[in-house]
Amino acid sequence: MIVAEQGTDMDNFVHDIPTKYYFGKGGIEHLPEALKQYGKTVLLTYGGGSIKRMGLYDTVVKMLTEHDFTIIECSGVEPNPRIETVARGAALCRRHHVDVVLSVGGGSTLDCAKAIACGAYYEGTDFWQMVLDGEECRKALPLVDIITLAATGSEFNSGGVITNLATKQKIGASFTFPQVSIADPTYTFTVPAYQTAAGSADIMSHIMECYFNRVTNADLSDAMEEGILKSVIRNLPIALENPQDYEARANLLWDSSIACSGLAAYGQRHTGWSCHALEHELSAFYDITHGVGLAILTPRWLEYILTKDSTVMPRIAQFARNVWGIEEADDEKAARMGIRALHDFFKAMGIPMTLTEVGIDDLHFEDMARDLDVMRGGLLKAYVPLTHDDVVAIYRMCL
Ligand code: NZQ
Ligand code: ZN
Repeated sequence: MIVAEQGTDMDNFVHDIPTKYYFGKGGIEHLPEALKQYGKTVLLTYGGGSIKRMGLYDTVVKMLTEHDFTIIECSGVEPNPRIETVARGAALCRRHHVDVVLSVGGGSTLDCAKAIACGAYYEGTDFWQMVLDGEECRKALPLVDIITLAATGSEFNSGGVITNLATKQKIGASFTFPQVSIADPTYTFTVPAYQTAAGSADIMSHIMECYFNRVTNADLSDAMEEGILKSVIRNLPIALENPQDYEARANLLWDSSIACSGLAAYGQRHTGWSCHALEHELSAFYDITHGVGLAILTPRWLEYILTKDSTVMPRIAQFARNVWGIEEADDEKAARMGIRALHDFFKAMGIPMTLTEVGIDDLHFEDMARDLDVMRGGLLKAYVPLTHDDVVAIYRMCL
């Protein structure tokens, strides 16, 4: 039996988030001053066109032109951004002597911009190797972003997740923090229902990956995490019903920034982020929406670990009671009711809740589990350690 190396005392932590963060309506007025401290040549990265449809592209270009910036464009960043786009952006930075990278869009655009900012200084030619060596990326161009989707929290952390479809790998690395992030909830009004729900599942997952922890006495973390989960549960249905509800969009956006910043989990120990590890394999093989994969996996993972290791029962019961308001004295019953509530919530929000519904069968389960064996030995030290067979079993529960 493999035992997770986890203590139960509150863990040490360092608070170090160097990002200047403007939250709220009109934050874009700070864009010129944010950029100009770094120079005049800007690499503008964006995705497949949503920022054009919502008018934000025109606003940004007008603003930068009026302030005499030179704009180099890197458009077409894909959801689950590709390594080829990182290479293209880095080449543009070098060719045009870019001073600062500006990302306008969702987490994919921002993650790609982070890798590009590092790629501009990368001495090798194999950018995939740069991603694999991510922890060693120490020098990067300055980065400013306007975030348009509440999901990843990339605007408030240094992480980036890049996909290599050729090798069927999706790898997260620590690239660089944005120097400035502009988070205006009105820019999220146009996010379609599917992405709004998926993004919210991602926010919840960032919390749950930490909340299910052997450290159960970090009171502030527990309260923040339960608070963020309750905020998403309260605000997501409102945002789906009325996409222009400012309060709902604002709450979701701030929830997302904090949820993946590490801040809500200070004092808790690293848990292996099991669902993210399993989901990144699904995305790498099938290019599915990250948050949807997490929504499908998380209730099954909880069910699986509850059966495998009953020591997690009180914590899942706490989740059921404090987050879902379940009034059940028996821990096991409460825990199972909490897991059901999570599943049913995602389903009610319109998320397809089986792998079959998103076109995935069992063909590659063994391959994905094998990749996780190699790449993520971390799962053997997870909250509940997961072996190769455990991973396959969880995928099967999701069919
Ligand atoms: O490409 P465009 O045209 O911009 O359209 C996007 C895309 O189709 C659209 N969209 C974004 N903002 C919009 C909008 N449509 C209308 N109105 C708006 N305001 O939404 C679609 C999805 O966008 P994407 O950026 O892919 O979504 P998300 O922010 O959820 O990012 C997902 C990526 O982030 C990674 C995921 O693995 C995935 O690759 N993650 C990054 C993390 C981080 N950096 O900390 C942590 C996460 O766990 C996650 O792994
Ligand atoms: Zn995520």
